[in-house]
Amino acid sequence: MAEFKVIGVIGAGQMGSGIAQLAAVAGADVRLLDKDAEALLTAKRSISDSVQRFVSKGQLSKEVGADAVARVKYTSNLEDLQSADIVIEAIVESEDVKKKLFAELDKIVKGSAILASNTSSISITRLASATKRPHQVIGMHFMNPPPIMKLVEIIRGAQTSDETYNKTKTLAERFGKTVVCSKDYSGFIVNRILMPMINEAFYTLYTGVATKEDIDAGMKLGTNQPMGPLQLADFIGLDICLSILKVLHAGLGDTKYTPCPLLVQYVDAGRLGKKRGVGVYDYT
Ligand code: CAA
Ligand code: NAD
Repeated sequence: MAEFKVIGVIGAGQMGSGIAQLAAVAGADVRLLDKDAEALLTAKRSISDSVQRFVSKGQLSKEVGADAVARVKYTSNLEDLQSADIVIEAIVESEDVKKKLFAELDKIVKGSAILASNTSSISITRLASATKRPHQVIGMHFMNPPPIMKLVEIIRGAQTSDETYNKTKTLAERFGKTVVCSKDYSGFIVNRILMPMINEAFYTLYTGVATKEDIDAGMKLGTNQPMGPLQLADFIGLDICLSILKVLHAGLGDTKYTPCPLLVQYVDAGRLGKKRGVGVYDYT
């Protein structure tokens, strides 16, 4: 990949680890950063397991798989991202925390580097305002799990340049993804439509219309989705779903996005979904 020899990924959770894997399989040298050493260890195991699944199905050769795994370097030091041609951020879904990171990154990475965010809903224009390179800031929104899902939603901030958009689109295509492009409004395309459905599933449970199992089976079998909406919410992370709904509610100013009290209560109780072993369902 001529333009993107070194790719930085920040946040080694469910999304960042999958994005790092895609970048390594595409041939880049990857620097995967997390502030939490435990998260880096988990990411290392998950990248290795996921690559192995592709190798065992014959979708990747053993050599390409081994090379990709070896090309990911793990770090907690932002300075290690200095040589990156693009940095893709996948940390917590908080505007303040992301802005602080973008301001720091802007000072560290080379002038030509693109700063991309995997945010699910937050304004790219506002993230870009924390930097002195707003024309090189863009939304690159992968779907979970990144190694499997076919889509990348690209979000152009108010000042994103055509050059940044074209390079980012080419990179997503090199990852084997189909690109859709959204303007920079809360939730973009996918979560603008998906989160109200998930929220409504919580209200359906909260108001006692049906059991969680029947809500999920109804939607899975009745509308041909791979997972029911409550199971999908657990898979995404209930904290992430709540953060996205709050962004939709604040950004679009419509009460229809009010997060269901049951979703709020689960998050308050630390029931964050599959990643914590309990959410709507118990995974222990
Ligand atoms: N790496 C490699 N392979 C993987 C994998 C991973 N991380 N995860 C799943 N797979 C493979 C499995 O090996 C399996 O392969 P085979 O069929 O060849 O055996 C295949 O994918 C299916 O996996 P499973 O049998 O384990 O389970 P499944 O059939 O339920 O599929 C799933 C898992 C692909 C996640 C599927 O349930 C699904 O598509 N769910 C919906 C996911 C979705 O909607 N994601 C988008 C969420 S919204 C979002 O991401 C945006 C946001 O901002 C919140
Ligand atoms: P996660 O909780 O699994 O992982 C986040 C990681 O970021 C953690 O390992 C945490 O230690 C690390 N982190 C937090 N703050 C940091 C900082 N300041 N510096 C370095 N590391 C930091 O979360 P996730 O599900 O991978 O989501 C990450 C981002 O991707 C969010 O913006 C989310 O909205 C978006 N996203 C999530 C999904 C999904 O289905 N979960 C899908 C698409 C996009």
